[in-house]
Amino acid sequence: MSGTCVVVLGAQWGDEGKGKIVDVLAEEVDVVVRYQGGANAGHTVVIGDLEFILHQVPSGILHPGKECLLGNGVVLDAGELFEEIDLLHARGIDAEPRVWVSNRAHLLLSYHKLLDKAKEGLLGARAIGTTGRGIGPAYEDKVGRVGIRVVDLQDPSRLRELVAANVEAKTALLRTLGSDVALSSDAVLEEIEAYGARLRSRAVDVSQRVARHLAEGRRVLLEGAQGSQLDIDHGTYPYVTSSNTTAGGAVIGTGIGPRDLHEIVGVVKAYTTRVGNGPLPTEVESPLQEELREAGGEYGATTGRPRRCGWFDAVVVRYAARINSLTELAVTKLDVLDRFETIRLCTGYRADDVDGGGELDEFPASLGLFERCRPIYEEHPGWRTSTSEVRRWRDLPGPARAYLDRIEELVGVAIGRVSVGQSREQIFGK
Ligand code: IMP
Repeated sequence: MSGTCVVVLGAQWGDEGKGKIVDVLAEEVDVVVRYQGGANAGHTVVIGDLEFILHQVPSGILHPGKECLLGNGVVLDAGELFEEIDLLHARGIDAEPRVWVSNRAHLLLSYHKLLDKAKEGLLGARAIGTTGRGIGPAYEDKVGRVGIRVVDLQDPSRLRELVAANVEAKTALLRTLGSDVALSSDAVLEEIEAYGARLRSRAVDVSQRVARHLAEGRRVLLEGAQGSQLDIDHGTYPYVTSSNTTAGGAVIGTGIGPRDLHEIVGVVKAYTTRVGNGPLPTEVESPLQEELREAGGEYGATTGRPRRCGWFDAVVVRYAARINSLTELAVTKLDVLDRFETIRLCTGYRADDVDGGGELDEFPASLGLFERCRPIYEEHPGWRTSTSEVRRWRDLPGPARAYLDRIEELVGVAIGRVSVGQSREQIFGK
């Protein structure tokens, strides 16, 4: 018997509400896998009166009995992982026996965070606006073939050698970046030893484990972090994160084959947000932007930074549909638009220097061109009534249904789910 595999990923710039969609879909699966990113993610899930913000543990953990895996594509902040596990334990959720980590995942260590901050500081006005969680430097080590993997904890002498080589290289690098922080191998080894035994006991071959689950007919959910537009290859480079956030990354970061994917759900907000630097063509003018931010509570779950807010950009999501082979959209935070008289929807861009009338209906590779793109909008009437109590598609106000139907049409992917609030009950099917 063959199991099923569904991917849930962000189809904008992250913060789409993947956590709550994963939380609902997790009900129907046996296993949840995080496949990329690290503690830069901030997945918020509200259950009753309790709010959980998870950075490193997959959102599926909130369902009793579900197994949660961290794949090889993750850069693992193990200190953060065990802190979250302990916090969950204190709130009555016995997470540790259900969490397994790929022995091929790379460790994210404190020197990666120092490097992240030092590099950003040096970039000045060109800074990426990272979360400061060390993500870029950890992936640099992975690609530069000097990273330390979970499996290395099983060989103390190899681990010591790797740490010594990294400490020497990072000390020199930090110095050229203007930092005088003194690193020591002993301190880094102590940092690893603080969770070493616990981590060793949770390390497995995730690729093999998922293959076995699928072969035995179980249902697996692959949980993405960040969003398509932050993908290192397909996003708004260089204002991106350092991993493949797209569906291809789910395959690589878990260690399964492309034919194992059955469904790919793209989560989008009913509008757009972005945190960190880089272009955002549909960014709303003040004071409407502040109104949207307050209504949506648009502050970063990891850094607390105010998110930049814009209208829904169908060019971006149509692009996400193509590069991810999306089979379904989940639209979140529809209720945030309840208050607006007119809602704008971006159907294309205009850039004066582009041949043939200056119109584009595709997301361009050039950041310079993307910065010059001005949105082409169509305007939709608002519904000016609360949707947060709605529990069925047919009970949504007519203009809200028309707005969502138009998104479906422009993106070319069916909407499967809509959310109108933070709790599990406020998500329903179309
Ligand atoms: P990094 O992933 O910390 O290196 O940050 C790179 C870019 O990705 C910055 O623009 C961050 O704001 C953004 N980013 C990283 N993680 C998230 C997330 O979970 N949600 C939204 N943006 C994120």
